[in-house]
Amino acid sequence: MYFPAYRPRRLRKNRQLREMIAETSLAVDDLIYPMFVTPGKGVKKEVKSMPGIYQQSVDNLVREAKEVGKLGVNSILLFGIPEHKDELGTEGYAEDGIIQKALRELKKKVKDLIVITDVCMCEYTSHGHCGIIKDGEVDNDETVEYLARMAVSHAEAGADMVAPSDMMDGRVGVIRDVLDESGFEGIPIMSYSAKYASSFYGPFRDAAESPPQFGDRRGYQMDPPNVREAMREIALDIDEGADIIMVKPALPYLDIIRAAREEFNHPLAAYNVSGEYSMVKAAGKLGWIDEELVTMEILTSIKRAGADMILTYHAKEAAKILKSSRK
Ligand code: PBG
Repeated sequence: MYFPAYRPRRLRKNRQLREMIAETSLAVDDLIYPMFVTPGKGVKKEVKSMPGIYQQSVDNLVREAKEVGKLGVNSILLFGIPEHKDELGTEGYAEDGIIQKALRELKKKVKDLIVITDVCMCEYTSHGHCGIIKDGEVDNDETVEYLARMAVSHAEAGADMVAPSDMMDGRVGVIRDVLDESGFEGIPIMSYSAKYASSFYGPFRDAAESPPQFGDRRGYQMDPPNVREAMREIALDIDEGADIIMVKPALPYLDIIRAAREEFNHPLAAYNVSGEYSMVKAAGKLGWIDEELVTMEILTSIKRAGADMILTYHAKEAAKILKSSRK
């Protein structure tokens, strides 16, 4: 079947034909929008390195969450910036913590929105690490107990799903047990299963005010050269009861997404992280790329690699583009 009998260009002639044979399609319900909540009232502060993304107080968060829902985006991922940080990240699991307050308001005022909470200590600890420090290191097993406590307190405040992002060993199993014991056996866990120690998180750490005050996260997040290790991490999380597995970041790790898709049958999420977003925004601002088209191409590539859902700061823009004809 060689040229001239087979001409692949025949099916590329116009948009309708291209859409007819498209192997991947991005839909608005694939998208999850990350949001940052901060104490106060009337606060809406743009993150410098992430144009269009804000640290905002609960009132403004609720307003934007309604707008997100109207655009057809069904879920958000919530991060909290606490009033004060301490060694044990106590505000992370306090009944009147920032996330807990935001959850109660969101659940009261926004209908049909899935609210997923990020479960991690780094936004709440004074040292900025994702766990409890002992002898200068993050203590795995003690941290896991705190994470479980945080997950339960999110569920109590109304979280629809919890997403542990700390990369401690064994945390999914313990969180599952403690949620079940507390009567939350219906709350799913979206686990950041293969989360790499990536420099692409830089802008997020401005947004969440969570850079580590000493050292780095390489002792718990994964080393970028490894793919087989990612498969072991994911297998462990599935054994421990993860409902959704995640690969993070997305664009520099498309091969990991593909490998995970081929090896596992679980729903697979990919996190299109802050640095990936900021690069597109910066180049768009400079007029060096067509920001909308590049955004859609990136999101499509993440789906093509095998992700079922994408956590992305582009969610609102992408929802608008999907409604228009510019895709
Ligand atoms: C918390 C957490 C991080 C991100 C999500 N949850 C930062 C980190 O691990 O340093 C990164 C998200 C992004 O860059 O968009 N542990």
